[in-house]
Amino acid sequence: MAREFSTVGVVGLGTMGAGIVEVFARNGIDVVAVEISAPALERGRATLKSSTDRAVAKGKLAEADRDALHERVHFAVGLDALHSVDLVIEAVPEHLDLKQRIFAELDRVCRPETILATNTSSLSVTEISVATSRPNQVIGIHFFNPAPVMKLVEVVRTVVTAPEVVADVEALCARLGKVDVTINDRAGFIANALLFGYLNHAVGMFESHYATREDIDAAMKLGCGLPMGPLALMDLIGLDTAYEILDTMYRRGGRDRRHAPVPLLKQMVTAGLLGRKSGRGFYTYERPGSPVVVPDEATPLATDAAVADGARAITKVGIVGSGTMATGIIEVFAKAGYEVVSVTRGMEKSAKVCEAVKTSLNKGVVRGKLAEADRDAALGRISWSATLDHLADVDLVVEAVVEELSVKKALFASLDEICKPGVVLATTTSSLPVIDVAMATQRPADVVGLHFFNPAPVMPLVEVVRTIRTSPEATATARAVCAALGKTGVVCGDRSGFIVNALLFPYLNDAVKMLEASYSTADDIDHAMKLGCGYPMGPFELLDVVGLDVSLAIQRELYLELREPGFAPAPLLEHLVTAGYLGRKTRRGFRDHSHR
Ligand SMILES: NC(=O)c1ccc[n+]([C@@H]2O[C@H](COP(=O)([O-])OP(=O)(O)OC[C@H]3O[C@@H](n4cnc5c(N)ncnc54)[C@H](O)[C@@H]3O)[C@@H](O)[C@H]2O)c1
Repeated sequence: MAREFSTVGVVGLGTMGAGIVEVFARNGIDVVAVEISAPALERGRATLKSSTDRAVAKGKLAEADRDALHERVHFAVGLDALHSVDLVIEAVPEHLDLKQRIFAELDRVCRPETILATNTSSLSVTEISVATSRPNQVIGIHFFNPAPVMKLVEVVRTVVTAPEVVADVEALCARLGKVDVTINDRAGFIANALLFGYLNHAVGMFESHYATREDIDAAMKLGCGLPMGPLALMDLIGLDTAYEILDTMYRRGGRDRRHAPVPLLKQMVTAGLLGRKSGRGFYTYERPGSPVVVPDEATPLATDAAVADGARAITKVGIVGSGTMATGIIEVFAKAGYEVVSVTRGMEKSAKVCEAVKTSLNKGVVRGKLAEADRDAALGRISWSATLDHLADVDLVVEAVVEELSVKKALFASLDEICKPGVVLATTTSSLPVIDVAMATQRPADVVGLHFFNPAPVMPLVEVVRTIRTSPEATATARAVCAALGKTGVVCGDRSGFIVNALLFPYLNDAVKMLEASYSTADDIDHAMKLGCGYPMGPFELLDVVGLDVSLAIQRELYLELREPGFAPAPLLEHLVTAGYLGRKTRRGFRDHSHR
């Protein structure tokens, strides 16, 4: 029989604690909610109230249930109020000495059979437990932010946690409607160990002006389908908490430089810019605690910014190439009303591309997304050619040929001779330096990267890559074109992986390393990222879809260019590729897909 938990205590009613109180009270459990002072207690009460009021306003909670929920919560200052609870969850700031002091005090105040749990994200549960006389009854219960919404709980057992305590807490998680993964005590557990290197890297991109906050966040939302961008997520987590988590992970997790907090973080924390809870972090919020972002001095101007930056008018576009990307890009431009010249290496190839574009447009008609007349008009705007000479009068060229530098350079040298002055020349490369391609021409100021995502007609993101020679006008033109295509163009520097791949693939590689170290299973790691962080796919699902060979190649590029030791490809990834297990396309990758 699992232990009955009728009353639980929550210590610390900040970002996490207030949410944890709500989770228990919503599930019919009485809560003693404790803070350090009367004003802090009032803040916690107000947070709980506004969260439950929002739930009522959204129709997710009945008014009567909200009132009953509040009746189950007893607020108090000081730990003495916890003398008769069955379980305590501590959610005070991420400092080991503070948590140890609180656990020693809880050990004194609480009944001998009470389970003591910490919500720590990165500190050692073992070190916290030894501050008590009952380390076998100490456990980690790591909720995710916002606690009432996120389904995952990481249950962390130390080497001395009693198995029945683990079982009781697992049963409690099920009662709360949460999915738990039970793991050993390691810095960052599953989700944060995979998340924080990525978040810190994104802060580094922002700090070095590699891209704006809006562009970094849009890239990860639109390029990977994440529920929020990394900088908005940092604001939600709280920059002080994030700083402490990174710092602890750096010290406990093998001094991986990727966890050394980016200096800007410390500056922001010192300046009181803590994120949502203080009303300002990477973004500015309506008021402290509010999720509503308001414009500030860094917010880009919506109106006519492109024109102000000297964007050139584009009506006729040349697209070179006959592969998947070229085909998709032709469709995108033609549908958006541009006159398109497609150039391939032979009329046979042109005929194939033409067929593929027709098929895709027809699908749109069948699905009711495109009128027949619009399909015909789009097709009518495309002319098919096998010679570059037909690009003499276009305003923009998009190159999407094979991913080989020598081929692209030769092509750009030819374009330089053929195209009129003022044309923007764009490459869709995903891994080659754009500057190498630009320098094959006499007009590097007019060369940009336009990195579309596959499938181009569907994916809403384009990375606009500016090299150190790209002119502001060419960048503005590329961005304006993206907008006219109905896509979000994010501007970034010319570094390996641009924004999305540079942030995504090291995380995937880390997941492989975690699996390789037998810390957890592929299923639990996938679960953790989907249910704890709201990712649309877990890392192993995504690796199998993208292809392990493609992922390894990208990771190798990142490692070679950035020389970051933590980016070294996971040996397991290399072995799977060598063995021919490339993912779905070979019916086997991290998982066996032969029966699906
Ligand atoms: N923020 C997140 O996204 C997140 C997610 C999961 C876990 N965590 C972990 O949860 C814990 C709390 O983080 P947070 O972000 O909620 O911090 P926070 O700063 O928002 O809240 C901490 C609260 O603890 C209170 N407090 C401080 N000392 C206290 C004491 N002696 N007694 C009682 N209350 C005290 C503070 O007044 C404050 O309200 C940390 O261990 C953190 O790592 C955070």
